[in-house]
Amino acid sequence: MILTVGNIKGGVGKTTLAVNIAIVRASAGCDVLLVDGDEQRTAQTFTELRATLRGEPGYTAVSLHGSALRTQVRQMATKYDEIVIDVGGRDTGSLRAALTVSHVVVIPVQPRSFDIWAVDNVAELIREARDINPELRALIILNAADAQGRDNDDAATALREVVGLEVLDLSIGRRKAFPNAAAAGRAVTEYTPKDAKAIEELMALVATVYREGIA
Ligand SMILES: Nc1ncnc2c1ncn2[C@@H]1O[C@H](COP(=O)(O)OP(=O)(O)OP(=O)(O)O)[C@@H](O)[C@H]1O
Ligand SMILES: [Mg+2]
Repeated sequence: MILTVGNIKGGVGKTTLAVNIAIVRASAGCDVLLVDGDEQRTAQTFTELRATLRGEPGYTAVSLHGSALRTQVRQMATKYDEIVIDVGGRDTGSLRAALTVSHVVVIPVQPRSFDIWAVDNVAELIREARDINPELRALIILNAADAQGRDNDDAATALREVVGLEVLDLSIGRRKAFPNAAAAGRAVTEYTPKDAKAIEELMALVATVYREGIA
């Protein structure tokens, strides 16, 4: 399955979720390719850090951009069990290319108004990508959600109005374990002290996306 973690909004947790998902799938025994479609190379930098601190990262990582991303991902699709694509936080050729070759796009959205408004523009990109890739599924996950208050419910309600996207009945909280683990070249599942909630939320996302036949 080819999965993109994408949004045109920056800093919403795309790279965080992409690397955590890639590591969880690799740990489950899948041969994973992590494609860094962001010119800032954050996923690649994470992988280099991981290799330095831990040795073999456990997955293959490449940087690909624009139309090369599309053609090479298509070519490599048969060689890997899973491809996870991370893109930058803007409307780029790489994001558009990724949407045309993916089975699923996971869209992290923070439950705050500017982030929610940006989803209309993501929905437009997804509509365009479906002209070429009609089976593309688009799943919104609330990320860096606050533990308390009505913001999450209000955000989910607003997001359900956007046509063509599915809002997952899951959220990932704002948890220090994500940046702490990343700074150590790890997924939250590999990091101690263990944050059981962070692990549970990540595993619930992976289970929903991969095991319930969304692809
Ligand atoms: N669930 C979370 N809890 C706490 N911090 C988080 C969470 N998700 C992401 N972050 C933090 O938010 C910051 C932005 O995350 P990240 O780099 O993954 O976003 P991005 O969407 O890839 O950004 P960009 O658009 O720049 O590529 C990072 O410091 C990351 O550690
Ligand atoms: Mg990023």
